[in-house]
Amino acid sequence: MEELSLVKNQIKTFVQECNDAKSLTLLELLATGKMLRSKLILKIAGINEEAIKLCAIVEMIHAASLLHDDVIDESDTRRGKPSVNALFDNKTAIMFGDILYSKAFTELSQMDKRIAHTVSHAVTLLSIGEMLDVDLTQKFNSNYDLYLDMIYKKTASLIEASARAAAILASKDEEKYALYGKNLGLAFQMIDDILDITQDSSTLGKPAMLDFVEGKVTIPYLFLHQRIEDKQKLESMYKKSLRQEEIAWIKEQMNTTHALQDAILQAKTLGNEAIEALKDENTLDLVMIMKAMIEREF
Ligand code: FPP
Ligand code: MG
Repeated sequence: MEELSLVKNQIKTFVQECNDAKSLTLLELLATGKMLRSKLILKIAGINEEAIKLCAIVEMIHAASLLHDDVIDESDTRRGKPSVNALFDNKTAIMFGDILYSKAFTELSQMDKRIAHTVSHAVTLLSIGEMLDVDLTQKFNSNYDLYLDMIYKKTASLIEASARAAAILASKDEEKYALYGKNLGLAFQMIDDILDITQDSSTLGKPAMLDFVEGKVTIPYLFLHQRIEDKQKLESMYKKSLRQEEIAWIKEQMNTTHALQDAILQAKTLGNEAIEALKDENTLDLVMIMKAMIEREF
C-alpha cells in the first residue's frame, strides 16, 4: 500500500523535528508491523494530510506502548526482530517510548479538540489495560467479564479511537465506526488467543499454548473452566510448563465441551455485529478487513 509509506515518512518527519540523532537511529531499528490502525483510518477518512498525520500519531503511540510492553513482559523479540530492550537495555526502550508518545501528543494537541480527546482518552485506557493484564496473570482468573474489560482496554480501545477519530475527520457517523473499531479490536485479540491453542509452534513462531503457561487465562480457557467438572485439574496446570499429554488433555476438553468452538463463535459474532453496524455506510473495504479476520481456518 503506497499510502502506508506516506505514514512512515510522516513518522520520520515527526521524529526529525525532535532534533535528536539517537531517536532517529532508534526509529530505524523498529520493525514495522501490519499498520492495521493506519489502514483503518485511511479507509474511513481517505488519504489526505490530516489523516496521514492522525495515522502517524496513532502508530507512534502504538509503537511506544509496545516498547514499554516489551520491558514489562521482559520480551527479547518484537515482530521477529530483537526488541529495543534486548538490543540496548530497558532504560533506552522506556525513554525512546516516552519520546515517541510525547511527540505524538504534541502533534495531537494541534488537531481538532474532539480527535485529541478521543485518542488521548484511549491512551489512558490502554495504560490501565496493561496494568489489568499484568494483574490478571498473578493468579488463575475465572471471571470472563474481567478478561473482556482487559482486552477492551489493552487492545480494542486504541483501534476504536482510531476509527472514531477518522470518522470525526471525515464528518461520518462516529458511533458506527467506533463500534466497528471496538469489535475489530476485540475479535482480533480473541482470535490471537484462539490461535495460541490451535496453531502449531512453527506457524506461531513461539511455543504453542504459551499464553496459559505465562499465566493468561484467555477466552477458550475461560469457557472451558466454566464447563468442566474437574476445574482443579485445569487450575493445577496453570503457569506450568506443560507435558505433551497435558496439552493433549486440554485440547481434547476444549473440543468436547465446545469451549474452543464457542470462543470462535464469539469472535465471529462481534465481527458480524460490526459489519451490520456499517451496512448503510458503503464500506466494502471495512467489511473485507473484518471478514478476512473472522472467516479463516482456525
Ligand atoms: C501488547 O500486549 C501491549 C499492548 C497492546 C498495550 C501496552 C500498553 C502500555 C505498555 C501502556 C503504555 C502506553 C504508552 C503510550 C507509553 P501483549 O503483551 O499481550 O502482546 P505482545 O505479544 O504483542 O507483546
Ligand atoms: Mg507483550
